[in-house]
Amino acid sequence: MKIVVFETEKWECDILQKICCDHEIVFTEEPLRRGNVHEFKDADIISPFVHSELSGSVLECFETLSFIATRSTGYDHIDMEFCSRNGIPVSNVPVYGDHTVAEHVFALLLSISHRIPEAVNRTRKGDFSQKGLQGFDLQNKTLGVVGTGSIGKRVARIAQGFGLNVIAYDPKPDAVFAARYNVSYMDMDGLLQKSDILTLHVPGSKATNHLLSDREFSCMKDGVVLINTARGSIVDTQALLRALADGKVAAAGLDVLPDEPSIREEAELIRSFFDKKHDLETLFSNHVLLHMRNVIITPHSAFNTKEAVERIIYTTGDNIIAFMNRSLKNVVS
Ligand code: NAI
Repeated sequence: MKIVVFETEKWECDILQKICCDHEIVFTEEPLRRGNVHEFKDADIISPFVHSELSGSVLECFETLSFIATRSTGYDHIDMEFCSRNGIPVSNVPVYGDHTVAEHVFALLLSISHRIPEAVNRTRKGDFSQKGLQGFDLQNKTLGVVGTGSIGKRVARIAQGFGLNVIAYDPKPDAVFAARYNVSYMDMDGLLQKSDILTLHVPGSKATNHLLSDREFSCMKDGVVLINTARGSIVDTQALLRALADGKVAAAGLDVLPDEPSIREEAELIRSFFDKKHDLETLFSNHVLLHMRNVIITPHSAFNTKEAVERIIYTTGDNIIAFMNRSLKNVVS
């Protein structure tokens, strides 16, 4: 069988190569795209990450595709209807780094509360003044966790150490967890009204698309801080911009943005016009930050620690081997 692994780095390739040693395996740093799918159309198995395009019109270009092993938890980037219509099972990596992403939530939050990016930029220029750098304590603030699956629960547990009061909303509340970690569940509107800080941990889906829009922002406390490490589609960006502009949202820490693939394509397009020495990701981030000074953006890197990526690779290898042995593992639908 021919396996094509997209969006990989050398050390990941070495591990997967060992696991799938009896099979032809092709690695590429590129994401799968409409523009390159023809190069890989004889693949039987593909393993993308979240920046690949897996729409029906791209997937139908494969001639013998029989399995997709996404190296992510979320699978909202895959046309699942197309896969089910065509009998292509999809497996994911259900848990690899709940604490990894939860740590990133606090990295974003502490960066905002202690104004770390501005402070570091200042000292790098030799300016050690403290003027305008006053932050705020996390202790005794109320943290609203939207979605208490594996990541939301980790966030709630870490939050206890900071002395945050934790409230939560989930259509399937976990009463045992709530009692053990002193978390109060409430309905979504109640959560929006009471939270000083809101953090999102729901899957990207039709049901969660624009879960936060103008109405939800209007329910929030003035000066709320929003953290989104889940999916960009969950927040209506135009509504967020309005809420940032009128001070309803004091600051936002975002690891995910809507249409990330097109943003990357834009960067790739620009790259072809520029000398390679230019750091276009930095240019792009500066461009965004220029317009949204109270927003911190990371490039969907919350998962990206050595330990978490190793777990992703080993689980993906297991998923592929299980498919070949006709005993599917971690199948999503
Ligand atoms: P999970 O499946 O363990 O938990 C999701 C929770 O959301 C469940 O408890 C579910 O009941 C709840 N939920 C569903 N719809 C809801 C709604 N409308 N309102 C409130 N709660 C709702 O998922 P996990 O592992 O906690 O991950 C959450 C999301 O984080 C993933 O779906 C993925 O999109 C994102 N993620 C982002 C990463 C990054 O690098 N930025 C890395 C890994 C995951």
